[in-house]
This record gives sequence, C-alpha cells and structure tokens, in this order.
Amino acid sequence: MADKSTSSEKPTATAEATEAAAPARRIYPIVKYGDPVLEKPAATLKNFGAELETLAEDMFASMYAAQGVGLAAPQIGKSIRLTVVDVTSGKNPEAKIVMVNPEIIHAEGEVREEEGCLSIPGFRGYVIRPQFVTVRAQNLKGESFDIRGENLLARAFCHEIDHLNGILFLQHLSMLKRDLIKRKIKKLRKEGEW
Ligand code: NI
Repeated sequence: MADKSTSSEKPTATAEATEAAAPARRIYPIVKYGDPVLEKPAATLKNFGAELETLAEDMFASMYAAQGVGLAAPQIGKSIRLTVVDVTSGKNPEAKIVMVNPEIIHAEGEVREEEGCLSIPGFRGYVIRPQFVTVRAQNLKGESFDIRGENLLARAFCHEIDHLNGILFLQHLSMLKRDLIKRKIKKLRKEGEW
C-alpha cells in the first residue's frame, strides 16, 4: 500500500515532447488555369538544402488541404522542376514521393481513365496514360533515383511531369471536349467565379 502514490504518476512528459516536434506548415493557394505560370516549362533545380525540404513539406500540406494526390511547383506559382505525389492522400507516410528534375525514362501499356487537376477545379476528362512508367529523378539531397509506378501512380507521375513542361491535361483531350471546358471557364471568369 505504501507505494500507491508513486505508481499512479503518469509519464506524460514523453508524449508532450513528441507532439511538439512537427512545425506548422504553410498552405499555398493553388494557381488556377489561365495563369501563364502553368503553361511554361519550369526551370531545372540546381540548389538543394533545407529551404527546398521546407518547400516540399509545405507542398504536401497544401496538396492534402486541397485533397489532391499530386502537386507540381508551378501550381503554387513557382516555376521550378519540383513535384510531390501521394496517391494515399496522406494515409501512409511512406507513400510520400518527392521528385526533383524528374524525367520519364520508360513507359509501357495504355490505360484510359478520368483525370482532374487542382488547377482546373470542377472539370474532368478521359486521358490515355501509360500503365507503367519509370521515372528518373533527384531527391531533396540531389541524389538520383529511379521509381516505377503502375496505374494511378503512373498517371500521377505523367500528369505532374507534364505540369513541369507547361502541359495541362486539357491538352490530352479531344478538341471538342477541350473547347467545351475552355468556354465554361471563360464564362466562370466573366462571372468572377474563377
Ligand atoms: Ni494538375
């Protein structure tokens, strides 16, 4: 009975220390279709370091806030070859992929599936993408790596790398469908809703 008071003490200090570790993230607004930054090729990244790591983490936070599975730097107004992808939408921390200066080095098969873009909210269209792709990219330290993606992941890689080349999914649609979407966006812009 004598040691009852000591055994009731809870080890709270450890839990508090762990919670305090994550820094607040900056949520960037997503640039919408019509902004020229989305339609020009982005610049190759040559400088790696803490600043780039912060930017990548802020891009993940911005992407999750917008409920996307991929985000390219031009979509937050930065014309640099950096993109983040997470097809689990933040459910699995190990699924977070950062690609710096990525290039598709192999593509195979074809899948036709509906696709959308955070910069063109409210519009979707069917786009044929490879079923498998292999991407060669650099990580945040500048080290080169290859990554293979299948189906949705392959689609996300292609879509984000397109962004770095100033290409939007609209360009993969039929002219009829593309013009229809462009007309609707024009109307929304006139009404001040874009
Ligand atoms: Ni997009």
